[in-house]
Order: sequence, then structure tokens, then C-alpha cells
Amino acid sequence: MPFVPGRVQTTPLPQPQLENTITLEQALLRRRSVRSYQPVPVTLAALGQLLWAAQGISGREGFRTAPSAGALYPLEVLLAVSRCDELAPGLYHYRPLSHDLVLWRPRDHRPTIAAAALDQECLHEAAAILVITAVPARTAVKYGTRATRYVHLEAGHAAQNACLQAAALGLGTVTVGAFDDMALAEALALPEAVEPVYLLPVGVPV
Ligand SMILES: Cc1cc2nc3c(=O)[nH]c(=O)nc-3n(C[C@H](O)[C@H](O)[C@H](O)COP(=O)(O)O)c2cc1C
Repeated sequence: MPFVPGRVQTTPLPQPQLENTITLEQALLRRRSVRSYQPVPVTLAALGQLLWAAQGISGREGFRTAPSAGALYPLEVLLAVSRCDELAPGLYHYRPLSHDLVLWRPRDHRPTIAAAALDQECLHEAAAILVITAVPARTAVKYGTRATRYVHLEAGHAAQNACLQAAALGLGTVTVGAFDDMALAEALALPEAVEPVYLLPVGVPV
């Protein structure tokens, strides 16, 4: 486990909702990149639901909502929280097995994340940012040099799940790939084995 903070401060997430009135087809139709958000909070339940959609546990033996080559699960999802009444601003690590958050770094990380990503306005405005990171070595153990490809494909699966979940919740998001890898890794205080892959700012659409 690469994210081991000095002092473990855990926040349990509400159990994910497994039913909704919106169909998969409606969510597919509604999914659109949304880059402007109202300056209002999102609920912890909604954040938990998005994290579950991206990488949550959905079956026996730890199988997850998104496919993974060899079920090796190289992805680690962080959540940069800015506006949530039930959670202090900070950078959190999502733990799928216990469906909870562990505080990785305190304080609002939105400005430094945005600065590493061309100061894109959607990152400045977001109530929270899902940060998909990866430990490619987990996949390389079995797949060698194809690990890079597999990790990126898997991040796409996880991101699409989160996009569809956001559409189903009436939240806005956009997948952001334009950032400086080193600057973002530094902003997130990522351990050496962990690479940033994708950013998904989330908020209530304007
Ligand atoms: C790999 C990838 C990287 C992207 N990076 C960014 C980005 O850095 N900033 C941004 O605003 N949108 C980004 N997008 C979103 C695209 O601009 C968007 O998906 C496209 O305009 C189509 O619109 P739609 O998502 O509403 O269908 C990215 C999309 C993908 C798939």
C-alpha cells in the first residue's frame, strides 16, 4: 500500500446506492464534459458513490467495478476535497476494500493541482477532484512492458464509470489529461512508485 500517512485518520463513506431511477442509456445520453460548477458543496454520499463507481468493490475476492488486467488493480484513487460539508478540505486516499477515505494531506489542494494542469478553470471551480493514479509495477510483474498500456486503459475504464455515475447523480465532471506529470506528482506528494494518470473535477453544474 503506497499511501501510508504518518497518522491514519479515517472517514467511512456511506454505503453506495445500488439502484437509481435513471437507466444506463439515459446516463450515456446525459454524459457530457461539464467544466463550470456552482460554488456549492457536494455531499459525502455523492463523493462516495463516484469513488465506488470508479474503483469500488463489486464482487467476491475483491473484484471491482472496472476491469483490470490480471485483476492486479494498479489504480489508486485520491480525492482532493474543497467543498463538502461532511469532510474537511484535504487530499484523501480511497480504500476500496473498506470503502473509506484516509487523509493523505490536509488543506485544500485545488490551487496546486490546477497550477500543475495549465490552471484550467474547471479545476479551480470544482467542489472536489478525483485523481486517478497508478502503481504500474503491480501490473508489470505479470505483463512486463505492456503494463503502461494496460494502466492507461484501466484508468479510462475507471474514469468512464465515474463520468456515467456523475451523469446519473446530476453532477458535472470532465476528464482532464492535460497536466505536467512531475508538477502534479509533487502537488499530490505522491510516493515514488505512484504516477498521476487522470483528473476528474466534480461539481454541481452551473
Ligand atoms: C484523454 C483525454 C484527455 C482530456 N483532457 C482534457 C483536458 O485537459 N481539459 C478539458 O477541458 N477536457 C479534456 N478532455 C475532454 C474532451 O475535451 C471532451 O471529452 C471532448 O471535447 C468531447 O466532449 P464530451 O466529453 O462532452 O463528449 C479530455 C478527454 C480525454 C479522453
